[in-house]
Amino acid sequence: MGRNRPYKGRDHFARRAREEGYEARSVYKLEEIQRRFGLLRQNQRVVDLGCYPGSWSRYAMKCIGPRGRIVGVDLQEPSLAGGTWIVRSVYDVTPEELLKALGGPADVVLSDMAPLTTGDRFGDHIAQLELARRALELARVVLVPGGALVAKVFEGGEAGDFQAEVKTSFARVKRVRPPAVRKQSREWFVVARGFRA
Ligand SMILES: C[S@@+](CC[C@H](N)C(=O)[O-])C[C@H]1O[C@@H](n2cnc3c(N)ncnc32)[C@H](O)[C@@H]1O
Repeated sequence: MGRNRPYKGRDHFARRAREEGYEARSVYKLEEIQRRFGLLRQNQRVVDLGCYPGSWSRYAMKCIGPRGRIVGVDLQEPSLAGGTWIVRSVYDVTPEELLKALGGPADVVLSDMAPLTTGDRFGDHIAQLELARRALELARVVLVPGGALVAKVFEGGEAGDFQAEVKTSFARVKRVRPPAVRKQSREWFVVARGFRA
């Protein structure tokens, strides 16, 4: 019991997250993406899809500073001050709502969304890809030209098709598996830059 719970793990990243005041070890996935690509900058507007418990948002807020704006969407609300949290399924959120809450178009859309996994590898892969596709759909409306999308993907037969879909809207698309991803996990991230509106 508890061995796989993110915060109870004995691994280096879980310990570091506790010490550095982050809600989840997954923050180090975003930190690695930021170290490599420098997507998040001062004063930007950011959307964080699947923002609970809040470590990506907390990290993003540090990068964008007090004049940046962040809007997070999740089924649960993070207990974190400084952002606007929409507590609802991403399928029930409209791009117009995001734009209104941000006060303008987004510079970066982040998606670390994952469904509750069932153990059915193919079913989990498809459910997760639907979330990633929803992130792409919203990003296509809310991003500024030149903006960026980071989206989690569970590896599987249709992941390549999703990456190809992303390529139709962005100039540069990379597949990244940060060191903080657990060895047994099939997840990786699409990092897409240079949105073509
Ligand atoms: C891995 S967690 C995100 C962790 C977060 N990035 C952090 O660092 O704190 C995945 C999140 O996706 C959310 N999620 C799953 N399905 C969703 C949906 N349909 N709409 C919004 N969020 C969803 C879950 O509620 C969960 O909080």
